[in-house]
Amino acid sequence: MDKKSKKLKEKIVQAHLGGGQKRIEQQHQKKKLTARERINFLLDEGSFEEMGMLVTHRTTDFNMQKQQFLGDGVVTGYGTIDGRLVYVFAQDFTVFGGSLSETHAEKICKVMDAALKVGVPCIGLNDSGGARIQEGVRSLGGYADIFYRNVQSSGVIPQISAIMGPCAGGAVYSPAMTDFTFMVENTSYMFVTGPNVVKTVTNEEVTSEELGGASAHSTKSGVAHITSANDFECLKDIKKLLSYLPQNNKEITKKLPYSFRDEIRDELENIVPDNANKPYDMHKVITGIIDNDSFFEIHKDYAENIIVGFARLGGRSIGIIANQPLFLAGVLDVNSSKKAARFARFCDCFNISLLVLVDVPGFLPGTDQEWNGIIVNGAKLLYALSEATVPRVTLITRKAYGGAYDVMNSKHIGADMNFAWPSAEIAVMGAKGASEIIFKKEIKVADNPEEKLAEKEKEYAEKFANPFRAAERGFIDEVILPKDTRRKLLKAFSMLENKEVHKPDRKHGNIPL
Ligand code: HXC
Repeated sequence: MDKKSKKLKEKIVQAHLGGGQKRIEQQHQKKKLTARERINFLLDEGSFEEMGMLVTHRTTDFNMQKQQFLGDGVVTGYGTIDGRLVYVFAQDFTVFGGSLSETHAEKICKVMDAALKVGVPCIGLNDSGGARIQEGVRSLGGYADIFYRNVQSSGVIPQISAIMGPCAGGAVYSPAMTDFTFMVENTSYMFVTGPNVVKTVTNEEVTSEELGGASAHSTKSGVAHITSANDFECLKDIKKLLSYLPQNNKEITKKLPYSFRDEIRDELENIVPDNANKPYDMHKVITGIIDNDSFFEIHKDYAENIIVGFARLGGRSIGIIANQPLFLAGVLDVNSSKKAARFARFCDCFNISLLVLVDVPGFLPGTDQEWNGIIVNGAKLLYALSEATVPRVTLITRKAYGGAYDVMNSKHIGADMNFAWPSAEIAVMGAKGASEIIFKKEIKVADNPEEKLAEKEKEYAEKFANPFRAAERGFIDEVILPKDTRRKLLKAFSMLENKEVHKPDRKHGNIPL
């Protein structure tokens, strides 16, 4: 027995060395952790149970049988984060650059299947040169096996990807189909084809970082939801995100202990400026409403004219979608509509109530927007909110103009409770634009057209630039004082706790993509 145990111990030592000490050092020199170090930092201490440590590849081409590394470039298994079970896989760049062989893919599929069966989140830590070139189509098949499972798990268990090194070729499509993609600044990149292919095909000269680094994907493409300064921060951010999520779509995120107090927040009173054209930071409204320090922003640097993220309200996990008047006056455009729609759908999949904060002057006009499909992309947000069955509460802080009023979780598309501050302006458009159209003739023949416009603008504003017309029709359930907002929202979400919606039987809807 001793001899046999010794053999096992030797194998474990060998597996833990991955591609060898030299390659581990190279990984550290690049300021990257190894696959095992990442898993150990991510999971609760001592909770990791490895599966498939002794797996090896089956390739014999190119003398590959002589190059065997136990585990074949990916560490897989399960463990806990804050006591909650998760499955995890971490690609090991020290073994053939973390490239994906047939057996490597089988190991990933095994944990994906197990996570789905057990109903717990699946986390992938990616650090890979893509398809194992020596294996050809077997590797491509392995990727497709993973993609297929991503789709089967979508909306059933949370799927999280961290890009902690290269991620090229078709390999990017698995992260793209998971719910959240994290990237580490300066050490990770994602692209369908690298700079060399780009140069050959389009003659563009671009670096890996410019093409697909964390900055490009968090500001330009929106592929990355969160970027972190280094591996440690990235893993900490994943843990934080998980704290807002349930284990699966049948669960509701555990509520933190909270007992209702009559909470007044005076700081909310003076955020909205008197001048309707002046910007203000919607983050201040969010902070004024939620539990202290509980906001976890998603897509922070992308389409900044809308804010999305998770927070706690009275200990309950909620999703927030909020127009941001600081950027483009909070207008809805192609990117902000897509960003908010995707977030709304995630929350709806996983029973996370939605709070929508509205200060929106409308949709952004122009050829750029029209030709890039503002119609179909704006419709995504309209569709996503209309189909959401989780508790949905709206607060209009200032402008709610035109079609954007309808889209931003109006009563008409199924919101449960709609509040407005006295500063709300719910109208087809701003007073100036409206007066220019409907009083065009009167203004034209006036002795002083400018004076006439100002007079008409005032008249229109008095009539419509307020929340009372909408409240008279019941489109707003209550006009509330800013300082009472937290108290009102706490009660509203608590009242909606047992909301149930029965939808007509259908395979699935056809969201405009
Ligand atoms: C096999 C690979 C590999 C791969 C890297 N290695 N990528 N082995 N298949 N795809 C090996 C290297 O040979 C090297 O082995 C070790 O990993 C480390 O690689 P280096 O090049 O030394 O590291 P670095 O300089 O950091 O560069 C990393 C890299 C580069 C940028 C990822 O290796 C690279 O460009 N690799 C190829 C990327 C690629 O084109 N992949 C295929 C994409 S197509 P030694 O023994 O020297 O240490 C694809 C299709 C999927 O993925 C489609 C799915 C639908």
